[in-house]
Amino acid sequence: MPQHEQHPTTAAPRRAVVTGSAGFIGSHLAHALVQAGSTVIGVDRRAPSADATAIANLASLRGLPGYHHITADLLNCAIDPLLIDADAVFHLAGIPGVRPSWGPQFSDYLASNVLATHRVLEACTRIGVPRLVVASSSSVYGPTDGGASVEADRPKPASPYAVTKLAEEQLCLAYAERPVGPSVVALRYFTVYGPRQRADMFTHRALQAALTGQPLRLYGDGHQRRDFTYIDDVVAATIAAATVPTAQGAINVGGGSNASLLEVINIATSLTGRDIQLQQDHARSGDVLLTRADPSRAREVLRWQPRVDLHNGLRAHMQALAAQVPNYSRAA
Ligand code: NAD
Ligand code: UGA
Repeated sequence: MPQHEQHPTTAAPRRAVVTGSAGFIGSHLAHALVQAGSTVIGVDRRAPSADATAIANLASLRGLPGYHHITADLLNCAIDPLLIDADAVFHLAGIPGVRPSWGPQFSDYLASNVLATHRVLEACTRIGVPRLVVASSSSVYGPTDGGASVEADRPKPASPYAVTKLAEEQLCLAYAERPVGPSVVALRYFTVYGPRQRADMFTHRALQAALTGQPLRLYGDGHQRRDFTYIDDVVAATIAAATVPTAQGAINVGGGSNASLLEVINIATSLTGRDIQLQQDHARSGDVLLTRADPSRAREVLRWQPRVDLHNGLRAHMQALAAQVPNYSRAA
């Protein structure tokens, strides 16, 4: 199984704040930081004892002396006291997901992705936090012509979610231009997968369908492609973004595993030995046909490149899911 140790973490912040720490990426990041010796203040509005997803995501952090969980909503909590003495703030809290962002939920996206981020930035500035790493998204690029997306490309966000992520990262980068603001690295994550991936995402659903025999709803023809990026690789890039002194600006975190949904389905089928029953559905608004990262900047600035290929990453993801699926008979 891929391990965090595959990326030699040379340094980790002594004291770090992780927002969104009860989420998929935030919980992995918090765990890796604690393992690397950091003291971590995790902030999330999901309570670790009441919310089923938070309970599962935070299980490996429970009882670790280096981890302190604060249940709070960044839209209205007092943020300053949480940031005192922090060497880095990792701002991952937000509402993710492209498809539900159309319609009335947009106000939640705007509130958590933009207004809460503004509160975090103001607090970072008041407290004098030296480095903010913010979770941006490949979705800011929108439709592409088939080539790899470079950070300097003009963004063309194609969904309300993507608009809020672009606003979020640009707000952070604007604060970084002020003489008093934190330095900012905005990581444009490309479709992250692995154990504890959000249940609305494709790889989770494809593996779950293969393990359980339940049908998989396929939006579009399945030829849409993504740069699937394994969670341990994402965590390594995120820690590097806080610890490389010269890092700043937008950086792609992806590359190396570009595949179509049909290819993912084939791998899931071969890993489990079970066919997936597909339910064809129409393509969803705002879903782009292709994401592809140009990883040059991450390589040059962060000395980072993805190490886990899609087959091995999906195997690790599948094994984690299989441990939860009752009556899954075939050995993973
Ligand atoms: P997630 O939903 O699992 O985690 C986000 C966490 O933020 C949740 O636990 C949620 O409770 C918390 N949160 C939301 N609003 C909050 C608020 N106002 N106050 C306190 N906590 C709040 O999502 P994830 O997949 O782990 O994504 C983390 C971040 O990375 C998000 O900002 C997302 O936009 C970004 N991102 C994710 C992916 C991906 O493939 N998962 C790709 C690109 C960008
Ligand atoms: C993912 C995350 O959900 C976003 O939060 C993130 O910002 C984005 O990656 C990113 O890279 O920036 P997405 O690429 O849409 O967004 O990832 P999935 O939700 O896993 O969807 C991938 C593809 O599978 C989409 O074309 C979608 O329509 C399709 N899909 C998804 C299905 O066909 N069926 C499903 O049940 C779910």
